[in-house]
Amino acid sequence: MATTAPSTASGPASGPVQGPSRGEGSATTLLNVNGIEVIYNHVILVLKGVSLVVPEGGIVALLGGNGAGKTTTLRAVSNLLAGERGAVTKGSIELRGERIEALSPSELVKRGLIQVMEGRHCFAHLTIEDNLMTGAYTRTDGKAAIAETLEKVYAYFPRLKTRRSSQAAYTSGGEQQMCAIGRALMANPNMVLLDEPSMGLAPQIVDEVFGIVKDLNEKEKVTFLLAEQNTNMALRYADYGYILENGRIVMDGEAKSLRENEDVKEFYLGVGGGDRKSFRDVKSYKRRKRWLA
Ligand SMILES: Nc1ncnc2c1ncn2[C@@H]1O[C@H](COP(=O)(O)OP(=O)(O)OP(=O)(O)O)[C@@H](O)[C@H]1O
Ligand SMILES: [Mg+2]
Repeated sequence: MATTAPSTASGPASGPVQGPSRGEGSATTLLNVNGIEVIYNHVILVLKGVSLVVPEGGIVALLGGNGAGKTTTLRAVSNLLAGERGAVTKGSIELRGERIEALSPSELVKRGLIQVMEGRHCFAHLTIEDNLMTGAYTRTDGKAAIAETLEKVYAYFPRLKTRRSSQAAYTSGGEQQMCAIGRALMANPNMVLLDEPSMGLAPQIVDEVFGIVKDLNEKEKVTFLLAEQNTNMALRYADYGYILENGRIVMDGEAKSLRENEDVKEFYLGVGGGDRKSFRDVKSYKRRKRWLA
């Protein structure tokens, strides 16, 4: 299976992935996913040569519709594919320049990389605080340091502090999403892979959650790779975006240029309304898709 060259927001381009902030000299690459192929159950080819770069301190969005391969990409990075009978069969994944495909999820957590899974996954019978504390299990730096992180999580998520002794099952969807992110932060990560944080949440709550993500990124220097169907929201908070379709990156670019890109507007931002798209735009998109196929 041939790997596909990713395009840029301004149109298809062959050659290596451009990625965010390359050549600016400031950002170093934290995560480098290079041409990975993922197969489930030995036969189902889902990722067909996905490449992406996440710079240290960035927020990168991985966008695409149902079944595009977003979750699979995150699982490949955090080595959670085996439980799904999936495997990376080609390509490489590097964290700070070191190959990580052979590291277990808990070894990756120790190296500062953690995933918040799709669908929140709080322990329903535990209180919010006990849920948060489960996130500290890999830490070896003692109770005082853990207590300090807990206070920090509460400072970023005041709602969790209010609800600290409530059973997670009785908290709202937004609070559970915050709890899932807070629990990941208890591991003191440098990088969080966040899978579909907006799922099932009201727009104001999504804004609140993304606002906190942005805050954590700016103040705590946490790097995020954010998988989202909610392109509109994700591109408002991310610096850079990759669009996945059917297991391939079909476009990538600065968040701002993707937001302004006509094809992205039409196909992912749902902009149509009074300002109807011309056929030419649709045709250029189809041409591009054919070129990439
Ligand atoms: N455990 C699995 N076994 C077999 N196929 C799978 C498995 N998990 C996912 N797939 C398939 O892989 C493809 C990509 O799925 P994935 O969950 O990565 O997409 P996604 O972009 O996260 O979609 P969504 O936005 O719906 O979460 C889909 O066609 C899906 O059916
Ligand atoms: Mg998914």
